[in-house]
Amino acid sequence: MKLLLLGSGGREHALAWKIAQSPKTEKLYIAPGNAGTASVGENVAVGVDDFEAIRRFVLASGIDMVVVGPEVPLVKGITDFFRNDHALRHIPVIGPSQAGAQLEGSKEFAKRFMNRHRIPTAKYRAFTAETIAEGFAFLETLAPPYVLKADGLAAGKGVRILPTLDEAKKELKEMLGGMFGTASSTVVIEEFLSGTECSVFILTDGKHYQILPEAKDYKRIGEGDKGPNTGGMGSVSPVPFADKTWMQKVEDRIIRPTVKGLSDEGIDYRGFIFFGLIDVKGNPMVIEYNVRMGDPETESVMLRIKSDLVDLFEGVAHGDLETKSLETDSRSVVCVMLVSGGYPEQYEKGFEITGLDRLTDSIAFHAGTSFKEGKTVTSGGRVIAVSSYGTDKTEASARSFAAAKEINFEKKYFRSDIGADL
Ligand code: AMP
Ligand code: GLY
Repeated sequence: MKLLLLGSGGREHALAWKIAQSPKTEKLYIAPGNAGTASVGENVAVGVDDFEAIRRFVLASGIDMVVVGPEVPLVKGITDFFRNDHALRHIPVIGPSQAGAQLEGSKEFAKRFMNRHRIPTAKYRAFTAETIAEGFAFLETLAPPYVLKADGLAAGKGVRILPTLDEAKKELKEMLGGMFGTASSTVVIEEFLSGTECSVFILTDGKHYQILPEAKDYKRIGEGDKGPNTGGMGSVSPVPFADKTWMQKVEDRIIRPTVKGLSDEGIDYRGFIFFGLIDVKGNPMVIEYNVRMGDPETESVMLRIKSDLVDLFEGVAHGDLETKSLETDSRSVVCVMLVSGGYPEQYEKGFEITGLDRLTDSIAFHAGTSFKEGKTVTSGGRVIAVSSYGTDKTEASARSFAAAKEINFEKKYFRSDIGADL
């Protein structure tokens, strides 16, 4: 089979690495990819949301399946674009329809969906500029800290947590005033939940699902979870508190009602669902849905899937995912993200990366790299995600930290406490 994977980050390198191992993969293209994906497939200079260019490439290259890495093309309707095009109609896309992608594309849609299907999540209300006075009044009924979320996609920056009522009111006014453009013309205000977070992933064909290994990600830049949020500084799988009992609650209260809810509402959903969960005193609740895999969770999760991912994708495409089995690796995996100094604020790019060829016990997934004059150079805030197996988390993290020291580029930074809290 010839596959096209859309995206260019560490998540896509990990997906590409796994797809390339399948005996069913005859050829893998990544659009646009990065310096790492070029080692497991062929990069194509096409943007993830340039649907016309994707169409031309898919037809010219005889692509049999498209796998979508990031959320943007899904929220913009790439799956519907394929379904509505005579020449593309028969080509499966791993990723939901635009209606399904609303689970991530609109926080208010996701909250309403959860309420309709009695899926546990924080209490909320949604406000616009017209109802800002009611928003202030609602904030007054809540206890601090206050959680404000831009309704639409805001490149991972749309969630604000404010310690005082005054700050929350000021923030609400600014968000509704266009802080994130139209993405924040509706703002969801919700109750703050306190607990440990866990990312759970499924693949679904719209009726059946397979639960992938879970992971925990580390969002803050500083050790001990201090400082501003980032795209993710590392991940660990498995997550010790996500034991059999807890995962059974997740399946019964969250996964099954979500898949059934989508199906009952006639929403075409064939792809990944990422449940951003929080454990509130032993009970899982949904913080958010994403309609794609997590980054950097994928850089741990892919190592723990023993089954053929392309075979699972075929199950998604053909609607017989229940006939497939998902075998997992019982070892632990720890992923440590090497980032450019200054990230998530200002940082420089274009530094040469050395030491990648010295790794023996770890895999380096490229997150933000490119080629320049025959060298691999930094091209983003998150640069390399190093992942290692271990018989337990301690061994896996020791290997990833050793690898993180072997790889070098100017102003490299990483958190050396990934997994230490678990
Ligand atoms: P993201 O949506 O990935 O930008 O991240 C939002 C983050 O904000 C989550 O990972 C949580 O850490 C936090 N968060 C979101 N909603 C809540 C909530 N209701 N209670 C507590 N923390 C929250
Ligand atoms: N790691 C969180 C995300 O991908 O949104």
